[in-house]
Amino acid sequence: MKILIFPTSEAAAERVAQQILTTVRAKPQARLGLATGGTMPPVYQRLVTAYRTGQVSFAETLSLNLDEYVGLAPDHPCSYHHFMQDTLFAQTDFAPGHTHLPRGDAPDADVESARYDALIAANGPIDLQLLGLGPNGHIGFNEPSSSLASRTRVKTLTSATLAANKRYFAAGEQPPKYAITVGIGTILDAREIVLLATGPSKAKAAAQMIEGPLSAACPASSLQMHQNTTVVLDAAAAAELQ
Ligand code: F6R
Repeated sequence: MKILIFPTSEAAAERVAQQILTTVRAKPQARLGLATGGTMPPVYQRLVTAYRTGQVSFAETLSLNLDEYVGLAPDHPCSYHHFMQDTLFAQTDFAPGHTHLPRGDAPDADVESARYDALIAANGPIDLQLLGLGPNGHIGFNEPSSSLASRTRVKTLTSATLAANKRYFAAGEQPPKYAITVGIGTILDAREIVLLATGPSKAKAAAQMIEGPLSAACPASSLQMHQNTTVVLDAAAAAELQ
C-alpha cells in the first residue's frame, strides 16, 4: 500500500485525477471502476476539465461503477446513475453503452447482482479501481463484517452509513436501506486501486485501514492484501495515523 498525504483535499483530488488521466491516456480502452459520494466531484471536475481542454478522451473507455441503491431508478436525483451522469458522463465523451452501474430498480436485486457480477467478469479485470472510504471503513457498500472474498450482492446498510448518507437526500426522505455493491473480492481483482479519503470524518477509518489488523471489521483493511494500491489522503484524513 502506497500512502500519499497532501495538505489539502484539492491537492489530493488532483493527484487522483492525474492517476486516472495517466491510465486512460496510456490505454484509451481502459476499464475504470468508478465510485460516487461527496469525495468524488473534485476528481470528476478535473477529468471534465481535461476532456474539455482536449487533454483526454473517454470515447473508448469502459466504466463499471461500484454500487447503487436498491429501489432507486436511474432518473432518481439521489441515484448513483444520476450522480454519474451529472458529474461525469454527460460532461465528457463517455459512450452511453460503455457506462455501467447496477440497476437499483431491477425487479429482483439478487438477479441483478448476479448479472452485474457476470458483466464485470466478462469485461474484467478492472484496470483502475477508484474507491472512497466510509467513516466506518466500508469500501463500495461492503459494510463491516463483509466477507473479504465477496462478490456483487445486496447489502443491508448500517445505521452509521444511513446517517452519513442522509445529507444527500431531501428533508424527510430516508435513504434506501439496501444497496447492490460490488464485493471486496471483486475490488481486489483490479490491477490497480486508488482510494481517496478527505476530511476529519475519515481519520479513524483511514488509520484502521492502514495501521490496523487485516479484519472484516474494517473492510478497507483488505487493501493491505493488494499489490498495487495507492491511498491518497488529505491532512485531515491522515490526522490519526501514528
Ligand atoms: C460510493 C461508495 C462509498 C463511498 C463512501 C464515502 O460509490 O462506494 O463507499 O465512497 O461511502 O462516501 P463520501 O465520499 O460521500 O464520504
